[in-house]
Amino acid sequence: MRIAVLGSLNMDLVMEVERLPRPGETVAGTSFSRYPGGKGNNQAIAAARLGAEVALFGRVGQDRYGEELLSVARAAGVDTSGVEALPGEITGVALILVGRDGQNQIAYAPGANGRIDEAFVKAILPRVRSADVLLLQLEIPISPLAFLLRRLPEDHPLVVLDPAPVQDLTPLPLHRVDYLTPNREELGALCRAPVKKKDDLMRFSQLLLGTGAKHLVVKADQDGAYLAEPGGVTHFPAYKVKAVDTTAAGDAFNAALAVSLAEGKGTYEAIGYANAAAAITVTRKGAASSLPTRAEVQDFLRHPYRHPVG
Ligand code: RIB
Repeated sequence: MRIAVLGSLNMDLVMEVERLPRPGETVAGTSFSRYPGGKGNNQAIAAARLGAEVALFGRVGQDRYGEELLSVARAAGVDTSGVEALPGEITGVALILVGRDGQNQIAYAPGANGRIDEAFVKAILPRVRSADVLLLQLEIPISPLAFLLRRLPEDHPLVVLDPAPVQDLTPLPLHRVDYLTPNREELGALCRAPVKKKDDLMRFSQLLLGTGAKHLVVKADQDGAYLAEPGGVTHFPAYKVKAVDTTAAGDAFNAALAVSLAEGKGTYEAIGYANAAAAITVTRKGAASSLPTRAEVQDFLRHPYRHPVG
């Protein structure tokens, strides 16, 4: 089962704080660490740890962060031959604050991630076409993504798009997206209204489904996930665990969904598996460092109630 990931690689500079600051406020940090991250890189590493053959496509700078990111991805079994190191450009960097409840705030400087263009996409097209599943996110420019989607055959590979960070999806041919996976905030932003209650979530997910994607899966943190299909919305409750850092939980979810679908599982089973991978991820610190292996997810699914919840 082969998974292609086109996306970002970032070095994450992470500070833990008692609580996330309000605009204009300064708060003291309680620890500082550096972790490999970037949504594309995290999803590639997660899929490889879950047992898939993974090729990552992206760009880094010719610097220490770029080298470190590639060596961590390679060590996890990811084929990084499709990641280019660009001269004169920095590797992407993300600044992340993590509060005591595990919630985070992230800002990132795209650096080389922002230099992915149509020529790059054209060059990787044959390798992307031969994958079973293609994982995409929005930390790289949107127009090469649209270019890529328009050049894929109608039914292969299966495309999973994480619309994060959220932006206008109009340039994308969404009918070529099999699974669109916003979180609650992204769903609200895409529908231009906050998701305050479950009813909003149901209504907005049906609305977004109407824009063309074949399945809409809303990642709803402690509430688990919701699948919107033309016939209605199904809820998949979350596993109860103690969250220490929610960074990359969405990436673990998307990668696990992709691996499960690539193995021929149905959507419902794949979402259950993705919920388990995300639950394990929030119990650990960092991005790539927190992603579970296949054995860990299998063990979790055998004993889902053995984990501390508070
Ligand atoms: O999804 C988590 C990732 O978002 C972090 O690793 C950070 O790099 C940001 O891109």
